[in-house]
Amino acid sequence: MTESSAPERSLVLVKPDGFARRLTGEVLRRIEAKGYALVALRILTPTREMLAAHYAEHEGKPFFEPLLEFMSSGPVTAVVIEGEGGIPGFRAMAGATNPTDAAPGSIRGDLGRDWGTKVQQNIVHGSDSPESAAREIAIWFPEL
Ligand code: RTP
Ligand code: MG
Repeated sequence: MTESSAPERSLVLVKPDGFARRLTGEVLRRIEAKGYALVALRILTPTREMLAAHYAEHEGKPFFEPLLEFMSSGPVTAVVIEGEGGIPGFRAMAGATNPTDAAPGSIRGDLGRDWGTKVQQNIVHGSDSPESAAREIAIWFPEL
């Protein structure tokens, strides 16, 4: 464990389920209450091309097509957040991928559930490493 760290940026998405359920404000509230800064924000319905790039690591997996279909089904809120430990910190705030398993207190644990859909609809995405964050921020915010 290092004693200090530099500020880092993470790419957060409020996915179509979270957007449609009017949970964007609640997710942003938690990010700000935690102490991370909002650096950039946009609302858009992602194209398949953006999503194929974003989820390139999952290409070929059984849930890839349903995932792209779900993620392109409506608007999302894309956000760049910043703060020391922001990448693992937001992953901890999001909770486990499966909302049934996600701990109460986390975004997915408090606000998500299994809806019986083909892919987990789990409200948020957060970058999982500095490399992923840089790659994802370039997809969603090419101007940054
Ligand atoms: P994310 O990338 O969206 O932040 O989520 P994650 O790291 O927790 O999960 P990941 O393994 O990267 O999977 C990406 C998204 O695909 C959907 N998924 N569904 N078996 C399934 O039903 C399944 N597996 C993955 C979820 O929406 C997951 O967040
Ligand atoms: Mg992931």
